[in-house]
Amino acid sequence: MAAPSVYQFPRYYAIGYRWNTKAECDFLQECVATYATTAAKTVLDIGCGAGRHLLELARRGYAGTGFDLRSEMAAYVNEEASKAHLPVTAFVDDMRAMSAVQGTFDLAVCLMDTFRYLLTNEQIISHLKAVAGHLKPGGLYVTDFWIPTRWDHVANEMYQWEQRDGETTVRVFYVQHPDSVDPVSQTFEDELVFAVEEAGHSTEIHGERTRTRLIMPQEFRALVEVSAAFDIVGTFADFDIEQPLASSCTSWRMITVLTRRA
Ligand SMILES: C[S@@+](CC[C@H](N)C(=O)[O-])C[C@H]1O[C@@H](n2cnc3c(N)ncnc32)[C@H](O)[C@@H]1O
Repeated sequence: MAAPSVYQFPRYYAIGYRWNTKAECDFLQECVATYATTAAKTVLDIGCGAGRHLLELARRGYAGTGFDLRSEMAAYVNEEASKAHLPVTAFVDDMRAMSAVQGTFDLAVCLMDTFRYLLTNEQIISHLKAVAGHLKPGGLYVTDFWIPTRWDHVANEMYQWEQRDGETTVRVFYVQHPDSVDPVSQTFEDELVFAVEEAGHSTEIHGERTRTRLIMPQEFRALVEVSAAFDIVGTFADFDIEQPLASSCTSWRMITVLTRRA
């Protein structure tokens, strides 16, 4: 049986990760205004989780399609969309295959470190080609993943934060395990833990340790080039179009805006 995962608890995920959703969607809209050749109306969310971007973008006029490896996440997104009468559909698929995705979109996104579940160069290149095949000409793909702020921080970081919604408080711990580093495949294990307090009860949900890939900025540039599917038009250190990624940045993330090649 598969190990339990925090991703089987979409409501707690939705609470724990909601803090920056509006700013992230503002950034996505600014990317469309700056880099897209036409107004974007449709979005594909790859590894959509609890659908926070899909639901927020739908409130702003987009039709949203998303997929996730976890059926609990896809079901939660569909329920929330149906309750709010929003044009969003989610289903189960694997970003390494994308065999259930149909149609073409103006914008594709893969946010909050999901891209690093692609473990090999081959998986990354074939994923980029598959996404390009589901984008309209000039369509945008926005990726967002962890990069180390210092080389001695590779696979050795931990973040925690807390979010509250009514009677529910979710404390999120993101932990990287340096003991799991494979320096040849450039992979290591990381883990999410949710400490939940709800109506006077405390629970701790330990996610499985999952192997993820370290992708360095210049390496990503080279892989995008090899894919021949996209051009990189911008890299950012945060969801702020005024803050391009620079050597002086201390951000833990690299957000990249790619345009589909004709
Ligand atoms: C850190 S969450 C990010 C969710 C969402 N993008 C967000 O920003 O809130 C990562 C998500 O990727 C999903 N995932 C993991 N491996 C995947 C795969 N191979 N294909 C599709 N989704 C995957 C997980 O189930 C989880 O919902």
